[in-house]
Amino acid sequence: MERQMSKPRIGVVMSTTRPGRFADKAATWLMHQGAKHPKLDFEVVDLRNFPLPFYAEGAPPIFASGPSDVTREFSAKIAAQDGFIFVTAEYNRAPTAALKNALDHTYHEWCRKPAAYFGYGGLGAARAVEHLRLMCVELQMVPLRNGVHLAGEDFRLAARGERAIDSYTYLGGYLATALDELAWWAVLLKSARAQIQRGH
Ligand SMILES: Cc1cc2nc3c(=O)[nH]c(=O)nc-3n(C[C@H](O)[C@H](O)[C@H](O)COP(=O)(O)O)c2cc1C
Repeated sequence: MERQMSKPRIGVVMSTTRPGRFADKAATWLMHQGAKHPKLDFEVVDLRNFPLPFYAEGAPPIFASGPSDVTREFSAKIAAQDGFIFVTAEYNRAPTAALKNALDHTYHEWCRKPAAYFGYGGLGAARAVEHLRLMCVELQMVPLRNGVHLAGEDFRLAARGERAIDSYTYLGGYLATALDELAWWAVLLKSARAQIQRGH
């Protein structure tokens, strides 16, 4: 009889590192909401905990992993996930340099895994998330259509601490849809990766 597969583990990637970042509020809300999902487990992947240098390796990570301890630790953390939610700001209409640099340091760890997005900022980081979806294609991921965007006055009030993210009930609805879609792909791809590993 087939053993029941454990729930897919979803890495909640925090992509900003500056003091006072909004990312802490965003990730806290997401982890709280995520805990209610029956099919997924969540783990925060905070780029602050992986102070990668600017990428300067001899060979691209598609061919060889970087040798430093921090690269190895980051690589292992990403490899342990079955899917991702990128919690992302938009810096100059793009994903943050910290996130781009982290993606550049790794490759195979992301492949054949789904990704969803929670963007925040003036326009809900919509432009950064579109960039990020393209980066995910290059990393052979499954970037999902569904996203959660905290934008405009709602973002500004939350950033100033005048409203809690929790009070925007519409965001919970968008997140629920994104998580259900993420769960569908994460379960499917986790099972497929396991079968291929077993040689089926
Ligand atoms: C370097 C930098 C560039 C920014 N560029 C944008 C931008 O292009 N679009 C936007 O909506 N907000 C922009 N912002 C404002 C951010 O949305 C806002 O500061 C947000 O809180 C950043 O996320 P964090 O607090 O997690 O760092 C920028 C902020 C910084 C620090």
